[in-house]
Amino acid sequence: MKTIAIDGPAAAGKGTLSRRIADVYGFHHLDTGLTYRATAKALLDRGLPLDDEAVAADVARNLDLAGLDRSVLSAHAIGEAASKIAVMPSVRRALVEAQRAFAVREPGTVLDGRDIGTVVCPDAPVKLYVTASAEVRAKRRYDEILAGGGVADYETILEDIRRRDERDMGRVDSPLKPADDAHLLDTSEMSIEAAFSAARSFIDAALKQ
Ligand code: DC
Repeated sequence: MKTIAIDGPAAAGKGTLSRRIADVYGFHHLDTGLTYRATAKALLDRGLPLDDEAVAADVARNLDLAGLDRSVLSAHAIGEAASKIAVMPSVRRALVEAQRAFAVREPGTVLDGRDIGTVVCPDAPVKLYVTASAEVRAKRRYDEILAGGGVADYETILEDIRRRDERDMGRVDSPLKPADDAHLLDTSEMSIEAAFSAARSFIDAALKQ
């Protein structure tokens, strides 16, 4: 199985890194956050409650991975809702099953999320844990919004990132944490270029074996 597992907190740069890696190696890429987001959006769109686990799991079981589109799913409210339903074990079971089916695609795959190296693909030959301080992640998100012509408040974004971290790291089922055998990439003081080249050397070494 040629699966590259990439985990880390929100806004650490793992999305950009994962897409580039998938591009360079010609692998399929799945941003697993989108599976949680799409489930949450389907609930919101249908006016269904976010706190009914049976309803949410039913929606998760019927999710079509082919239709995932970050531009439609990136809204802040969808991210918040996604992190709420992501604490539900039966939602996770349904989405993890779909993610595992994706992970075995040929010639190889890159999956990014929170629990890929620990739960979804514990046997992945390469695991990366991409992180950065909450302040650096908030600043990057702030700059991104401004560059896109939007309006943002740095303190609000920082609070938001901290709350999201707490929820992702504090949940009982599959909390965000590095796998014991993950390579840590702290991008607080590292450019995306440097992170990419470090990632490549870990991947090349692992896939050569
Ligand atoms: O990475 P993101 O912001 O798109 O993820 C949205 C939410 O989905 C995040 O708060 C936690 C959840 N998530 C998860 O629990 N497990 C994953 N593998 C990916 C995302």
